[in-house]
Amino acid sequence: MDEGFTLWFTGLSGAGKSTLANLAAEELRRRSHRVEILDGDEVRMNLSKGLGFSKEDRDTNIRRIGYVCNLLARNGVIAISAAISPYRDVRDEIRRNHRRFFEVYMKCSIEKLSERDVKGLYRKALAGEIKNFTGISDPYEEPLSPELVIDSGLERVEDSLQKLIGTLEAMKYIRNGAGR
Ligand code: ADX
Repeated sequence: MDEGFTLWFTGLSGAGKSTLANLAAEELRRRSHRVEILDGDEVRMNLSKGLGFSKEDRDTNIRRIGYVCNLLARNGVIAISAAISPYRDVRDEIRRNHRRFFEVYMKCSIEKLSERDVKGLYRKALAGEIKNFTGISDPYEEPLSPELVIDSGLERVEDSLQKLIGTLEAMKYIRNGAGR
């Protein structure tokens, strides 16, 4: 029961939170951990259906995700959150409610994100077609002391995964190479 914790990704849209969260989940499951992912886009289709992108709605969304993660983590699950979670105070509030919390900041420049623009949202946001878009017309507050920073604009995703798993081992969130 002691192996549960919350693995909290934060970062701008398109910075690779979901991609790394999914790869990490796969590797952790391979090592016999129980894992659940609460992905921003998916949560907004059910648990947070109807919420928008005002500070109030985002805070509600993030508090809900944090609450569910805590329930899971307390019961031996590795709960992974992959939502932008732009506000530091709410992230830190969730951290305080947890016994074990690991925050990963997916760092990537706006230039890189607009260049890649997988969902075509940056183009729209820059053209003023989406209001309150995080990083363009809405704030993103970087974490001050996350357990890990991933430079997703520079690193290959395989290297980021290795770095993440290695740090989880080194900080004793998971056992070394367990289940191999
Ligand atoms: S959060 O701010 O509440 O954490 P969340 O991760 O759930 O955000 O949702 C972000 C996703 O919603 C983005 O990846 C993007 O696809 C979509 N989205 C739609 N409108 C916005 C917006 N104004 N700002 C950021 N993301 C938006």
